[in-house]
Amino acid sequence: SQKWILTVTAQTPTNIAVIKYWGKRDETLILPVNDSISVTLDPTHLCTTTTVAVSPSFDSDRMWLNGKEISLSGGRYQNCLREIRGRAGDVEDKNKGVKIAKEDWQKLHLHIASYNNFPTAAGLASSAAGFACLVFALAKLMNVNEDQSKLSAIARQGSGSACRSLYGGFVKWIMGKDDKGSDSLAVQLADEKHWDDLVIVIAVVSSRQKETSSTTGMRDTVETSLLLQHRAKEVVPKRVLQMEEAIRNRDFTSFAQLTCADSNQFHAVCLDTSPPIFYMNDTSHRIISLVEKWNRSEGTPQVAYTFDAGPNAVMIARNRKTAGLLLQRLLFNFPPNSDADLNDFVIGDKSILQ
Ligand code: PMV
Repeated sequence: SQKWILTVTAQTPTNIAVIKYWGKRDETLILPVNDSISVTLDPTHLCTTTTVAVSPSFDSDRMWLNGKEISLSGGRYQNCLREIRGRAGDVEDKNKGVKIAKEDWQKLHLHIASYNNFPTAAGLASSAAGFACLVFALAKLMNVNEDQSKLSAIARQGSGSACRSLYGGFVKWIMGKDDKGSDSLAVQLADEKHWDDLVIVIAVVSSRQKETSSTTGMRDTVETSLLLQHRAKEVVPKRVLQMEEAIRNRDFTSFAQLTCADSNQFHAVCLDTSPPIFYMNDTSHRIISLVEKWNRSEGTPQVAYTFDAGPNAVMIARNRKTAGLLLQRLLFNFPPNSDADLNDFVIGDKSILQ
């Protein structure tokens, strides 16, 4: 019978880089110019849920994102689908009386439905969670027998930062040396339990879509910024080692200094690009000043900040008490309905709000 359908559903949180990836040495394979390190958020917030389905009654590959059909014809989707199909195994579902031989996957079509539990328009990283979830769900459906790191190298070809969302906790994307990208993959540095005092607070400064996509921005930076050359060769290699040590020792002072310095250098590299790229706005700058003043007045850092390709602030508080104080200070400095009020807060530990 041709009536069967097999499905797999997976859920993947997004990740926030504390040592940034910015700049590709190969645009098609998505190979970066430096290593990067991130923290994966807990799945309560900012995560993607994806269901993948296969049935002989489907006559083409199709995908829906938040209920709206999107095209799968782009190279990034095609690369991920091809890589996974090429590694598919035999699948048998005795209850449904279904048997799929590995070569059948080349002919069978897929339907994919993906939802973000946060507004996609909020300008918060969504491609990282999206491609990681897609690759993970497809690998399960097609019985792909590869470890997480190999899967991360496939997710990387969808969106660079996606490779880091295949693991929880602290994750390093090793840039690799190979031209083909086989060694450009993610490894877990520490699991989610290793440093669970940390609380992540995201202040949604603007819900507008970013003006310069990371793809265009990185291309311009690689072509024009001398500061990027210096950063990739001289700064990041040392910083990655220091960050790994700070994470290993749960040393918040070093962790915060490195995180803030790396965010600031990433935005300096954007400014050093021709034409210059401005991702942060006045509110972002005011948040940086507020956190810097607070950290200075305490003598030791209480909160780290980092900004991706947009104005939203991701802040990491050393513990729950500090996160509570941070929220008070943000609300005091950015009162609702004032000129520069913050649209929304996302907190990595939902009990903080209660
Ligand atoms: O993976 P992309 O193309 O969305 O690029 C992500 C770039 C940053 O978020 C700015 C930095 C990073 O390492 O995630």
